[in-house]
Amino acid sequence: MIQATTNTRKQTGSFAADVLTGLSRTPKTLHSKYFYDDRGSQLFEQIMELPEYYPTRSEAWILENHKEKLLDIMQPHHWNLVDLGAGDAAKTRILIDAFYRGGLDFQYVPADISSYALDDLAGRLQKEFLDLPVRPVPGDYYHALSWIGQHVKGRKFVLFLGSNIGNFSEAETIQFLNKIHQTLQSGDRLLIGFDLKKEGSIIHAAYNDSAGVTEAFNKNLLLRINRDLGGNFDPDTFDFHAHYDPISGFVRSYLTSKVGQEIRIESLDQTFRFEEWEAIHTENSRKFSLSDIERLAAQSGFRVEKNLFDSKKWFVDSIWRVQD
Ligand code: AVI
Repeated sequence: MIQATTNTRKQTGSFAADVLTGLSRTPKTLHSKYFYDDRGSQLFEQIMELPEYYPTRSEAWILENHKEKLLDIMQPHHWNLVDLGAGDAAKTRILIDAFYRGGLDFQYVPADISSYALDDLAGRLQKEFLDLPVRPVPGDYYHALSWIGQHVKGRKFVLFLGSNIGNFSEAETIQFLNKIHQTLQSGDRLLIGFDLKKEGSIIHAAYNDSAGVTEAFNKNLLLRINRDLGGNFDPDTFDFHAHYDPISGFVRSYLTSKVGQEIRIESLDQTFRFEEWEAIHTENSRKFSLSDIERLAAQSGFRVEKNLFDSKKWFVDSIWRVQD
């Protein structure tokens, strides 16, 4: 059964304002949350299939091989399984299937910015898991969490998969974890996927793939600015590369102007000057140590209950419990 929510909020016009702020700054930045228009989402699907891009396969392995442990933690209570940024729930499906077959009493609460993705997901789950209660929540992370805090009663097990947390800055990470903590109560759980620090060449290859899909994924943001805001970027005049800093753990991605040039963006009524080899910082993809994870949990009011690793220890799904 699908229970509709009243939250119909869509992503609104902050794109123009954020592009104006980001390109007026030194160094120039564009926020990676804007990668995911239709084309960007297709390109990300392709990235997840790339031989070099290990995080998706590593996390799927973890869920497949540890699903019974998760079921043990959750039995015999009733749970709201909240899935932040559910998308097509390709990985969460592994858990839904195990919990459903294992007879767990639970409601699935997928949250996503795209109402279209949620409708599609709810329809598919309904066909497969006939009497599973599904309660989709459209909206960005913050609005979805506020709505869930007010309207979804009972125990919550929140999933934040895919190392999406790695796309935040340190300040955004703390703010986001605090928001989740405010939404939860004693005994509730949070499972976060963290990509771990490892040999630099493996990380480098994952973000500088030989087929050039990650480059196209980044450059698609320039095309989105052209289409949605009347820009005149020529993506061929930009060079792409991603750089891993093993000290901070941040992979930082850049588009660098190969030539001195001026870019006009009509709907902002602005012209932006690029010096030759001037960079736009387009994305953070942070890699974590286990002590980073302990520290983040403690700083935001959680304690690490269990770490679930893949066979190579490249990725961890870390289960956190709200501190009593
Ligand atoms: C969605 N996010 C966790 C991906 C990552 O690994 O940072 C996005 C991505 N960017 C380049 N490749 C994949």
